[in-house]
Amino acid sequence: METALITGASTGIGKELARIFAQKGINLVLVARSQEKLQGLKSELEKDFGINAHAIPIDLSVPQSALRVFEETNSRNLQIDYLINNAGVGVYGEFYATDWEKELTMINLNITSLTQLTKLFLEGMKQRGTGRIMNVASVAAFQPGPLMSVYFATKAYVLHFSEAIGYELRKSRITVTTLCPGPTRSGFENAASMKASKLFKQKGIPSSAEVARFGYNAMMKGKSVAIHGWKNSLLARSTGFVPRKLVLAIAEKIQGRE
Ligand SMILES: NC(=O)c1ccc[n+]([C@@H]2O[C@H](COP(=O)([O-])OP(=O)(O)OC[C@H]3O[C@@H](n4cnc5c(N)ncnc54)[C@H](OP(=O)(O)O)[C@@H]3O)[C@@H](O)[C@H]2O)c1
Repeated sequence: METALITGASTGIGKELARIFAQKGINLVLVARSQEKLQGLKSELEKDFGINAHAIPIDLSVPQSALRVFEETNSRNLQIDYLINNAGVGVYGEFYATDWEKELTMINLNITSLTQLTKLFLEGMKQRGTGRIMNVASVAAFQPGPLMSVYFATKAYVLHFSEAIGYELRKSRITVTTLCPGPTRSGFENAASMKASKLFKQKGIPSSAEVARFGYNAMMKGKSVAIHGWKNSLLARSTGFVPRKLVLAIAEKIQGRE
């Protein structure tokens, strides 16, 4: 049986991805900080779908935590066929006023751990000649983002890094997919303290389950970049053709306070 490792599996998109993998009969390694939530999900998925799930509670913003996850999977003799780097947080507000510790945590999580996990688990995939990686970026990856400047920049990193290694691996049977959700119902909005933002007040914001299903299908098809929703796709793709100042003004307006 194959195994998928999912970071940020305790809530939101990651939790829904775990459910999909379990439905397909794929074993799981669930990674996030909340031990209780991971244990609850592990028991539920094992009972409902007859798979084996492992919970690794860890803070991925701590240096070398990615290495600890890798060593833990090795000590449990787990081969990772699917790596889903989904854990991520946002920090909202004007850059001059935001908290540096929160921003550093975000950079460590969104960039450093994601990159190190990819490096560590890619080695085994290379040896076996097969595997799939999905890195979760955002539509924020396609443009600069006033009021969430560092978050948008971390997601641009995720997109460019993932596309580049996907290209390096194009002649192999290893695929790298970047999932780019737009605003999605999950714990993200609260964690990023975005209550004041207009962004999540729009109608028709999709559920985490819908976005997870879309990402799973794109990854299984080996798609390089998967932007959820036609409006998000249009907006993301248009940023290259629109004057930069207009892109900045629109981003600030969309994210602005009510
Ligand atoms: N929701 C949106 O509107 C949206 C839009 C575009 C992109 N995304 C991206 O989608 C991904 C998933 O987010 P989500 O929307 O599902 O939000 P979420 O419900 O807040 O989930 C975030 C997950 O990351 C985990 N996490 C947070 N900090 C962590 C840390 N230091 N170490 C380990 N795990 C940590 C959380 O678990 P614990 O708290 O238990 O650690 C949780 O499982 C993120 O990369 C996010 O940037 C979200």
